[in-house]
Amino acid sequence: MKSMSPTEKSLLQVETRAVLAGRNASETFGFVNVPPYRGSTVLYPNAADCLAHRNRYTYGRRGNPTMDALESAWSELEGAAGTVICPSGASACTTALLSCLKTGDHLLMVDSVYRPTRNFCDNILTRYGVETTYYDPQIGAGIAALVRPNTRAIFMESPGSQTFEVQDAPAIVAVAKKHDITTLIDNTWATALLFRPLDFGIDISINAATKYPSGHSDVLIGLVAANAKALPALKAMHGDLGVYLGPDDIALTLRGMRTMPLRMREQGANALQIAKHLERSPHVVRVMHPGLPSCPGHEIFKRDFKGASGLFGIVLKAETDKQVETFLDHLSLFGMGYSWGGFESLAVPFDATPYRTATEFKPGGRAVRLNIGLESPVDLIADLDAALAAMAGA
Ligand SMILES: Cc1ncc(COP(=O)(O)O)c(C=O)c1O
Repeated sequence: MKSMSPTEKSLLQVETRAVLAGRNASETFGFVNVPPYRGSTVLYPNAADCLAHRNRYTYGRRGNPTMDALESAWSELEGAAGTVICPSGASACTTALLSCLKTGDHLLMVDSVYRPTRNFCDNILTRYGVETTYYDPQIGAGIAALVRPNTRAIFMESPGSQTFEVQDAPAIVAVAKKHDITTLIDNTWATALLFRPLDFGIDISINAATKYPSGHSDVLIGLVAANAKALPALKAMHGDLGVYLGPDDIALTLRGMRTMPLRMREQGANALQIAKHLERSPHVVRVMHPGLPSCPGHEIFKRDFKGASGLFGIVLKAETDKQVETFLDHLSLFGMGYSWGGFESLAVPFDATPYRTATEFKPGGRAVRLNIGLESPVDLIADLDAALAAMAGA
């Protein structure tokens, strides 16, 4: 096989990169996939190397070939200087935040953020003297007014994974750069395939790879990719916290990543088709999908994103909680469960109204979040229509 130059590689399409990245058959005895390397102890060839910690690998937690494969593959997809692997998406968010904050610092956090990330700020960061101010996801350049002399980090999640507002990341980054503030984004919804945060000047890109990269609802994993400026502190925090994920879950994520572009393309197209269908339903008040003009930030979505993934929300024309239950219980093809990004369709009720502090979220009714899987959209639409009709009759 002829090897490719870095320039030739840089011209490859993302589907090709997802297949090739992190693989080196000369290091795996010709086998296509790197196996899960299990191990804590790494043996050194002699005392001098042992004393100097001079070995390609030094200790299981500090790296092994399975970790290297995923880290380098993910860095390639993100265009990052490096990536660290965490045991969940939640721990990826907390490790990334800890890497750029210290006592006395101020954090700007988007109000639409994933609830456990909010809990970390309110319950843990406060204990260590870090103050958080929540901001309107639609704030854009207006974030300048919230910056204080001690603001050290701005965290985005775009779109919000429950309420789907799209943020003006370039406008926020421009303000952050003026004040030398580190920017982070929870990019789980889009992944680097649909929005590459580092290309927009964001320093740290976080992905709950539990969702699309692993893709099969059988793994919990988080990935944090960083540019050269943010990487040293990220690696140091990751190492000092003792964060580690077992090799089997990493190997499963590598396996999922090979088909991620195909899955996401299919799920994204099917979700948009279903969202447009539901927008016309007499039993749906509103559809929250960044690809629809009614979604806050839709113009920014069109400007910055290459496409949409398979998660969106709907607001039901339901007067009672019982009617929402009727809708959910009449679905045959949608499982009811938390998480998303897997190959199977899911529906969960949600209420983002009680915990926002900077903005009010007023959906105008009872909301349900849909994860569109790889089933035919024809079948999914029929299933949703039947459940909506049952709800309306209840
Ligand atoms: C946007 C977002 N970020 C982070 C997470 C956390 O991921 P995990 O469940 O792997 O901890 C989730 C999980 O649902 C999520 O939706």
